[in-house]
Amino acid sequence: MKDQIEAIQTEALARIDSANDAKTIEDARVGILGKQGTLTKVSAGMRDVAKEDKAAVGQLLNAARQAITAALDSKKSALQDIQDAEALKGIDATLPGRSVHQGSLHPLTHIRHEAISILRRMGFALADGPEIEDEFHCFDALNTPEDHPARNEKDTFYFDSGKLLRTHTSSVQVRTMEGEAPPVRIIAPGSAYRRDEIDATHLSVFNQLEGLYVDTDVSLGDLKGTLEYFLHELFGAETEVRFRPHFFPFTEPSFEIDVKLHAKGQAPKWIEVAGCGMVDPAVFDAISGSRKDDSYSPDKVTGFAFGMGLDRLAMIRWGIRDIRLLIENDARFLSQFA
Ligand code: PHE
Repeated sequence: MKDQIEAIQTEALARIDSANDAKTIEDARVGILGKQGTLTKVSAGMRDVAKEDKAAVGQLLNAARQAITAALDSKKSALQDIQDAEALKGIDATLPGRSVHQGSLHPLTHIRHEAISILRRMGFALADGPEIEDEFHCFDALNTPEDHPARNEKDTFYFDSGKLLRTHTSSVQVRTMEGEAPPVRIIAPGSAYRRDEIDATHLSVFNQLEGLYVDTDVSLGDLKGTLEYFLHELFGAETEVRFRPHFFPFTEPSFEIDVKLHAKGQAPKWIEVAGCGMVDPAVFDAISGSRKDDSYSPDKVTGFAFGMGLDRLAMIRWGIRDIRLLIENDARFLSQFA
């Protein structure tokens, strides 16, 4: 039995020594130490060994198993070293690593989130409406007659079907009042489209945030207080804001709101950021016609509405001098917001 063990050990070590891939090593392991392996089989002979020899033979068997296992392990790790060296060929592992660029929100997304969060704290709920609108919701219901310049082919993107890309988010005012009885207090961020000449403060696709508050006894003071509070929250308490009388068909009185833009290397200048006003009774009348009830009768409710240019708000927030930077996807510009 001793001779057998020694012979198996010698043969096993030679086999392992000559193996030079993972499969051959595994085959050797199974062939020697596996259930039907040579060493396993011979160890079954232990039961026939004379009592006084058992200890010595057992030791020999253990020593052989240990030697074989150690040989298998060292061969495996030697093979792994060769594989690793192969994989690293031509790679200088001492070079400094390349850092992964950190992504960030687009400034427009950022300003929209901030604006929404301020207005939600003030009790406004989110509302939504389609970007492909009909003339009723975009114009007629908003007291904007057929001959109003805003409806001109030259100013608006029309489809053959007569539908159009909404020129403002004010259409969501109409849709909200059609669907919900007063009081309503909603904001509606979204895209708006105009055939505008593109320049430093105009895009043909831009982003607005509409607001509407209708209840009993909503006043111009509420409008002014709400929007001033909002702008001061967004830009800081020292921000200069002015309300300039203006005209919109769907509000009366109406204002445009300007905020001072401080852009690097430029003299500060007023930038128009929003239109607003008290909802015109003619709009309430149109809604009553749609709803076929008088819950929005101008005798019962009043309201204010506003529409802000989110792109403009972003310009003021970060002192961006050209609105086009917001859509050019220039990483040199965008990475400043990371
Ligand atoms: N819809 C107007 C615009 O796009 C803004 C506005 C909204 C004005 C609500 C008054 C009330 O210019």
